[in-house]
Amino acid sequence: MKYAVDRERLGRLMSAELDRFARAHPRSGKLHERAKASLLDGVPMNWMSEWASPFPLFVDEASGAGFRCVDGHEYVDFCLGDTGAMAGHGPAPTVAAVERQMRRGITHMLPTEDAIVVGEELTRRFGLPLWQFTLTATDANRFSIRLARQITGRSKILVHDECYHGSVDETLATLDPSGRVIASDGNIGPPVDPALTSRVVPFNDVEALERALAHGDVAAVLVEPALTNVGIVLPEPGYHDALRDLTRRTGTVLIIDETHTICAGPGGMTGRDGLEPDMLVIGKTIGGGIPAGTYGMSQAIAERVRAALPARADIGGIGGTLAGYALSLPAIRATLGEVLTDEAFSRMIPLAERWEAGVNEVIRARQMPWHVTRLGARAEYHFMPSPPRDGAEQIAHVDPMLDKYLHLAVMNRGVLMTPFHNMALMSPATTAAAVDRHTEVFDEVVAALVA
Ligand SMILES: Cc1ncc(COP(=O)(O)O)c(C=O)c1O
Repeated sequence: MKYAVDRERLGRLMSAELDRFARAHPRSGKLHERAKASLLDGVPMNWMSEWASPFPLFVDEASGAGFRCVDGHEYVDFCLGDTGAMAGHGPAPTVAAVERQMRRGITHMLPTEDAIVVGEELTRRFGLPLWQFTLTATDANRFSIRLARQITGRSKILVHDECYHGSVDETLATLDPSGRVIASDGNIGPPVDPALTSRVVPFNDVEALERALAHGDVAAVLVEPALTNVGIVLPEPGYHDALRDLTRRTGTVLIIDETHTICAGPGGMTGRDGLEPDMLVIGKTIGGGIPAGTYGMSQAIAERVRAALPARADIGGIGGTLAGYALSLPAIRATLGEVLTDEAFSRMIPLAERWEAGVNEVIRARQMPWHVTRLGARAEYHFMPSPPRDGAEQIAHVDPMLDKYLHLAVMNRGVLMTPFHNMALMSPATTAAAVDRHTEVFDEVVAALVA
């Protein structure tokens, strides 16, 4: 390809964008300064200080597929709260259901009928018959792997190299270049050496999987059916068949985490591709922004769980006083039943195709050695000419400075992308005009790199 990115030019462009951001956002800047006195690093949660901008945007109001910051600028939102707002900001049916429930009791540690309707809908989408609820996907993953250890009597959890499943200790592990399991980059205060709790294999590597499971000490394989958090890495043909076959043959519980891959369709990749997990986890999207996660299981797993649970399971490491609370269930019922519907996906996926075509056209016209990967309603560009096969290959091509420039430059032009990689997600409220706005802005900021 004709152009490599000129570092000096990139540095100049970056300073200009940082300056433009600071000038355009005096109120966000002031609020951030004030926040430093009461919030660690001036943010309510640490990752909010890791955006490409010199300080975070403070949001005034969000609705549909956009928001306005406190300085009055409007944004097209392709980040959508990193999938938490995939249903769009404040979807009307979810808001109405939540408002109704707020007046009827928010939490009381007793079930409501909504839970049954939601369980039935989850079964329709994902195939598994029995469900439990949590507040987050992290908790749903934690509880699933605890159950898997309890019923198998095995100690280890197997994950993909460069995976992310939330703040779950066993999954914060990676491979060093020699293939040894080590703590993943940024793992804060690991309780023990992750090599004691985890086995790690590269995505799409059937032989490594076979070798790792042959030890007979893996309780569960916890996987995203496509990696999404290191950037999208799609499974090669036959990988999921091999994964299912090997886990069955070795008596290992297969847990599929659809928290991000729900973008593939109403039943995620499990529903779309006919996958057959023993357990399934999903969080973030399902409550339309109200905290909610869930894990489902097959009848066979449920029978083993019932047989293996201690008499007082509520204090055994699976729980949460507000888990399955009354407010979250109508939120999920309305979000799945009326917002993230089958029909909504039939509009969202073509929008992601349009986004992909637009980015591809810019890459072609500007002769950048990049490519786009799409999974249903989610797409992203990678700084390499052909798709990565695993997480290590993807991470080797990450270019933090270029990444930061592109994020900030499009943000300065009213487009918000998912931080840490170049991902765009469509919601039922996203419009073709918003997608075309991204293409236009992307062309402008890529052109500046190679002009
Ligand atoms: C695949 C996957 N699983 C689980 C989680 C954890 O979600 P939460 O932070 O809402 O618990 C994430 C978060 O990004 C995720 O991407």
